[in-house]
Amino acid sequence: MKADSINHWDIVAEKYSAANHQGKNFHARIYLAAVKELLGDVAGKHVLDAGCGDGFFSSELARKGAIVTAIDNSYMMLNIAKRKHFHSNLQYHKMDLTGKLTFENEFFDIVVANMLMMDIPDIESFIFETARVLKKPGYFIFSITHPCFFLSDWEEDENNIKMYKKIGNYLDDRVEELNFWGKTLHYHRPLSKYMAALEKAGMYVSSFREPVPPEELIELYPEQEYHYRIPSFVVIRAKSI
Ligand SMILES: C[S@@+](CC[C@H](N)C(=O)[O-])C[C@H]1O[C@@H](n2cnc3c(N)ncnc32)[C@H](O)[C@@H]1O
Repeated sequence: MKADSINHWDIVAEKYSAANHQGKNFHARIYLAAVKELLGDVAGKHVLDAGCGDGFFSSELARKGAIVTAIDNSYMMLNIAKRKHFHSNLQYHKMDLTGKLTFENEFFDIVVANMLMMDIPDIESFIFETARVLKKPGYFIFSITHPCFFLSDWEEDENNIKMYKKIGNYLDDRVEELNFWGKTLHYHRPLSKYMAALEKAGMYVSSFREPVPPEELIELYPEQEYHYRIPSFVVIRAKSI
């Protein structure tokens, strides 16, 4: 299942990178604003970008003065990253984030993981390893699709306005196929599983966000105003102590 999952990312890599050029697509702008707020000043910090994809965010961190290690297990994603997003303060490595990470204990000030954790079958190992490689104190900042709502379709009212979602089987772990850029796998687990893994790894949640689009984005795309009713993303900052 692990190999299968990453093969899909190899296949969709070019389309994914084109669709989210420089993190400027509508959805990325929602969660990245919260991620940046929680990251704060990264200058001089050792940052691990876990599941870096095409590297646009890794290179942004490097441009802000961070010393960045960016890892992904997709050969194709890393090829794009090296081609598009080179920076002298940025190193790319191929590594499976569901296994042991080949970094020393307490090496990083910050671990960031954007839109990674619902794409991997095992978050316990990843969160345990994240806690191990983080300094004490250190920060783990991650964005995920909102586990409560993501897999439920919108329901419209009599005026065809997206108003509601029906939630079913929320508490059941399961794998679903998605088809945004081609086939990828989505590992659903309830929010409590994320919290439990952080707790077990000795980290505590210091910030929790359910970000919505900034008003200027909705002025450009008024048809997307339903994002103000039900959040699409969760962004969390956890502290290692
Ligand atoms: C939705 S993309 C997010 C990429 C990037 N962080 C961004 O914000 O655009 C998920 C990334 O996780 C990577 N990935 C999935 N499973 C992985 C694993 N087991 N180990 C390392 N990377 C993995 C994929 O190759 C893909 O690049």
